[in-house]
Amino acid sequence: GSALAKARRELKMKLLREDKERKLKQRLNKVDDVKINAEEESIRDTEGDQDEEQGNGGSSIKWQQRHNPTKSKDSITFGKRTNLTMKEQRESLPVFAMRDQLIQTVYDNQFTVIVGETGSGKTTQLTQYLNESGLFYRSAKSEKHLMIGCTQPRRVAATSVAKRVAEEMGVQIGEQVGYSIRFEDRTSELTEIKYMTDGMLQREAIRDPLLSEYSVIMLDEAHERTIATDVLFGLLKQACRMRNTDEERLRVIVTSATLNAEKFSSYFDNCPVVTIPGRTFPVEVMFSEEPCMDYLVSCVETVMKIHTEEKTGDILVFLTGQEEIETMCAVLEEKMEMLEKEKKESTDKLIILPVYSALPSEMQSRIFEPTPPNCRKVILATNIAETSLTIDGIFYVIDPGFAKLNAYDAKLGMDTLQVRPISRAQANQRSGRAGRTGPGRCYRLYTEFSYQKEMSANTVPEIQRQNLSNTVLMLKAIGINDILKFEFMDPPSRESILLSLNDLYYLGAIDGNETITEVGKQLVNIPTEPQISKTLLEGVKFNCSEELLTIFAMITTPNIYHRPKAQQEQADKKHARFKSPLGDHLTLLNIYERWVESGFDRYWCEENYIQLRSMNQARDIRNQLRLLFTKFKYPLTSCHGNTDSIRKALCSGFFKNIAKRSPSSSSQGNGSSYETLSELTQVFIHPSSSLSRSSPQYVVYNTILNTTKEYLVHVTTIDPKWLIEIVPEFFEINGKRTIMRKEQEVIKPLFNRFNRDQEGWRLSRPFTGST
Ligand code: CDP
Ligand code: MG
Repeated sequence: GSALAKARRELKMKLLREDKERKLKQRLNKVDDVKINAEEESIRDTEGDQDEEQGNGGSSIKWQQRHNPTKSKDSITFGKRTNLTMKEQRESLPVFAMRDQLIQTVYDNQFTVIVGETGSGKTTQLTQYLNESGLFYRSAKSEKHLMIGCTQPRRVAATSVAKRVAEEMGVQIGEQVGYSIRFEDRTSELTEIKYMTDGMLQREAIRDPLLSEYSVIMLDEAHERTIATDVLFGLLKQACRMRNTDEERLRVIVTSATLNAEKFSSYFDNCPVVTIPGRTFPVEVMFSEEPCMDYLVSCVETVMKIHTEEKTGDILVFLTGQEEIETMCAVLEEKMEMLEKEKKESTDKLIILPVYSALPSEMQSRIFEPTPPNCRKVILATNIAETSLTIDGIFYVIDPGFAKLNAYDAKLGMDTLQVRPISRAQANQRSGRAGRTGPGRCYRLYTEFSYQKEMSANTVPEIQRQNLSNTVLMLKAIGINDILKFEFMDPPSRESILLSLNDLYYLGAIDGNETITEVGKQLVNIPTEPQISKTLLEGVKFNCSEELLTIFAMITTPNIYHRPKAQQEQADKKHARFKSPLGDHLTLLNIYERWVESGFDRYWCEENYIQLRSMNQARDIRNQLRLLFTKFKYPLTSCHGNTDSIRKALCSGFFKNIAKRSPSSSSQGNGSSYETLSELTQVFIHPSSSLSRSSPQYVVYNTILNTTKEYLVHVTTIDPKWLIEIVPEFFEINGKRTIMRKEQEVIKPLFNRFNRDQEGWRLSRPFTGST
């Protein structure tokens, strides 16, 4: 391994040397050029790329302009941006005019806040500028070159942006430009610019809190205020304090699309704020006069109205999720078919494109393709398109005013996805999408009154609305024990920290002194939520870690089942054959194992209405998790069909997610109601579950879906006796901790350890957090 690494390093050094020589030659040529043709030079002056300038002592920086020998005046074409060469496209971005200033500011400061409209070139250009400058390439301390890292809150943004930058630099993904998202690492020894999700960088910080592989880290889309970005604010602030000498200085850039820069700046020791002047056109905002009854219907109407009455220009519609998007795609297609039958010759073709995070990446890239003549694109997107993806050519935005977000639901005792009204800041961000290519229009499907009076000004940061177990555990693994003293920009509430401490305590991840345990350290090694990691590890004891890896790889993968509109019945019949009477976890295991038996056959998938792409993804995730097991020497064990072992292991991690059939509820028919053991909330088994008709007495569930009712998703039957055996510290029977004998006995969870001062339990220090 290390010999290979050494060879790679040497190759890289050689390439670098050659590159330097080439650049030097070009510079010499340039001097000649100036003498020969001064006129041409004046043209080039305004468009030069900057040259690499290394080893100039590090004091004042100068950059030289380099002309591009391949470019002639003929290559300039007017009209659509897409006809421009890659270089011309790069240079037409607003950020380009500020290239030198940006490099200088980042060089001179440990923290820089950069504010700029979506599409100004922050994400794709800044990293390249810094890399081209050569100022941040090497540390005096280590032999290895340092990377420029850039975090994104969303996986889709991380991968699509990395691909774009690789294309601009003319390299393959994984070479000079790479990305790293959960379960997929496309970086190598060569990587200089690395895009990743903020969650991945947070993970890296556990291993290396100083983030010593990076010279600059750009926390992109900071206005989104994801938990991971918020935690990175604090971690990077600490890392910068440690790495503040000339030899090893770390620099942090925080970028935001909205104007809340002062807050960021004051948090980062009053650092400079650079504003990239936007190049946006006015957007006419239209409010709905009356509240819309059904925004999907209103969306369809508005799209059709624009398409038939308004001049060319693409449409962007903001919806809340995949299901809504797919429904609307289908409805619009029908509408267009009807229009075509009516033979209205004047109507253009409507290209309908969905965008959501679970969409396969080759389909996502279609949204960036230019619209052909006599066509209009309509993009149906989740709030992914608010700031993280830039789509050119949008003239019309339709904004129903809702987004799906993950928030802690006290009634259910867990985070669930909920559809909520957006904030005014988000609404403005959305309407801004219409003014990138020319003057546009935004149709808001809500009244001006509800915009002014009902919407909040800003979105609440995730850290103040979600369960923090994962985050608290990570911080503890990094060695930050006193979570309330951690420098949060907006601290989470004391209650939510207590809640996570409770969860972690019962998972065995922390002990009574709030210190991380051996189990806790093991959990952190697996990049899934603590509950899943715990189950996977317990699977070792129950002789079924192999099976559990499969089950959770399948649960993590969206869209396993294929149900084409015209063949739903056939599909359902095929799917029914996989159903286990014991529940959905075992059904998923069944599907995967049958697929393995078929030799990972694509025709097997087709025949059984299973999505091959999803199965491949599940297989990837499984392999990644399995590699981690091998790396950390967690045994891989199999129960060979002993379903009790699997279900017991599920209880050992998901003991908070147990529901009992309500006594009043009949056991026949569908829709029996259940009650969660820990929060005593009424819930129902989702109709898609293999248990939806059988209504067993006790079930363990993976998650709750909050739609018309509270539905349990991925449900499996259990024997309640197991709970007392497996997690005696969490459950009691009739107030006594004895093994259950009678069916009627009541099992209930113990008091919250951290909320009640019982059994001599004391919090290790008084809490001083806000709220
Ligand atoms: O980060 P910011 O919103 O400031 O802009 P960006 O993501 O760097 O995008 C700059 C430009 O690159 C956009 O206007 C797009 O034209 C182009 N781009 C692209 O064509 N394909 C991508 N996947 C990303 C950006
Ligand atoms: Mg960006």
